[in-house]
Amino acid sequence: MAKRINIFDTTLRDGEQTPGVSLTPEEKVEIALLLDELGVDVLEAGFPAASAGERKAVSRIAKEGLKAEVCALARALKQEIDLALKCEVDSVHTFISTSEVQMKYALGKTPEEVVQMAVESIEYIKDHGLICEFSPMDATRTELGFLKKICKAAEEAHADRINIPDTVGIMTPNKMRNLVQEVCSVVKVPISVHCHDDFGMAVANSLAGVEGGASQVHVTVNGLGERAGNAALEEVVMSLHVLYGMETGINTRLLYRVSQLVRQLTGVPVQPNKAIVGENAFAHESGIHTKGVVISPATFEPIDPELVGRKRKIIAGKKAGRHGIKAELEEFGLKPTSEQLNLIVSKVKELGDKGKMVTDADLLAIARSIMGKVAEEEKVIDLTDLAVVTGIKVIPTASVKIKLNGKEYVAAETGVGPVDAAVKAIQKLTDKLVNVRLKEYRLEALTGGSDAVAEVVIKVEDKDGHIISSRAASEDIVMASVEAMINGINKALLRSRQRA
Ligand code: KIV
Ligand code: ZN
Repeated sequence: MAKRINIFDTTLRDGEQTPGVSLTPEEKVEIALLLDELGVDVLEAGFPAASAGERKAVSRIAKEGLKAEVCALARALKQEIDLALKCEVDSVHTFISTSEVQMKYALGKTPEEVVQMAVESIEYIKDHGLICEFSPMDATRTELGFLKKICKAAEEAHADRINIPDTVGIMTPNKMRNLVQEVCSVVKVPISVHCHDDFGMAVANSLAGVEGGASQVHVTVNGLGERAGNAALEEVVMSLHVLYGMETGINTRLLYRVSQLVRQLTGVPVQPNKAIVGENAFAHESGIHTKGVVISPATFEPIDPELVGRKRKIIAGKKAGRHGIKAELEEFGLKPTSEQLNLIVSKVKELGDKGKMVTDADLLAIARSIMGKVAEEEKVIDLTDLAVVTGIKVIPTASVKIKLNGKEYVAAETGVGPVDAAVKAIQKLTDKLVNVRLKEYRLEALTGGSDAVAEVVIKVEDKDGHIISSRAASEDIVMASVEAMINGINKALLRSRQRA
């Protein structure tokens, strides 16, 4: 049977120690409820000695009747343990510094005094009938002989679990595996690991701790936590399941939802390239990859995105291929011809070359505008030149040149802005040459930013009162407007020819 690893979640305690993060009791309860649904084994609800608000939050979480063991943190001090007990939690996680540097400068205690404080605290918690987890803080910088001594003392005092914190994140996987093996060689109580990410090693070190014999891992959602954070819950859990073939109680399909809730309530963004929950974790852009995943997802995906509550995303960009873009358009029910697809792909690549990320909305606008375009050979009128002048103290002016039946016509107009001037200039020409009028104009900026792709939707009316709609998309609003206009006029002329 696969080994079962306990997940000790400390998002609401160490995670809340993320600089700038402060959650209200209500927000903490909301996260706790979802973490419980997710299936964490232990939920460290907070540090009651920190504030009255923290005590309120911990007490409220303890009263929720969660499946998870609700735990509170306390230093190895009777008065702090009392505050935790008052919150009516299931367990107390008590800690004391054991490294030389912290005992001397942070605590001002001798090693003997530290052992005595640890033992008295554990006994005090156990006397109150609670589960006790003990942490020799800064264990990874603690002299090994002393670490073993305090762990043995903790076991004798009936601690239920001993946690090995890599408080300043200085371990490497090899060192962590060896250290946990060393501790496991002297105590029989379940061992836990708590790794910080100062060198980006928190997840790797936590997994190495499991290899060394740990049966519990401390984690936080999105890897939040003091300084560079803690081991990320989603990464540890998925690695245990997929790479180690181990089990946890986590319903992995809720991982993304939990990550999003924590992101929202803490206000700490998730980096796009973050494993499992980052926006790009299941996004494919390069042509080779998109073609591969469309044919068989296993080609470039280590896991099915649905396993963690995600969806595969094919991103259109300069590295996008025909296959990926075609598949994405098909998802929206669009089936461009091969020629139209070529035009869509080259427009997307052109935008990508300008450094723009093409969103779904952009891609759809581009595709709809290309697919709705009158074919080159059918065009009655063609735009051959466009120039606009605008600025402070300058009346916006546009001049356009069009080709109709092999002849070129030029007109210039002023307007309230460059779009108005350009549309009026086209209208001036077409009024004389063909009887088509602009009836409606709508501009939509699809994505934020000054380089957003703008989609212009227009309606034109031909001489018999028929209304024809047309659209065009471009990062240049004037171009999109003029293209939509010319396209609409062409459509109207073609229709009246077909009717004649
Ligand atoms: O990082 C740490 O050492 C801690 C302790 C309280 C266990 O968070
Ligand atoms: Zn910590």
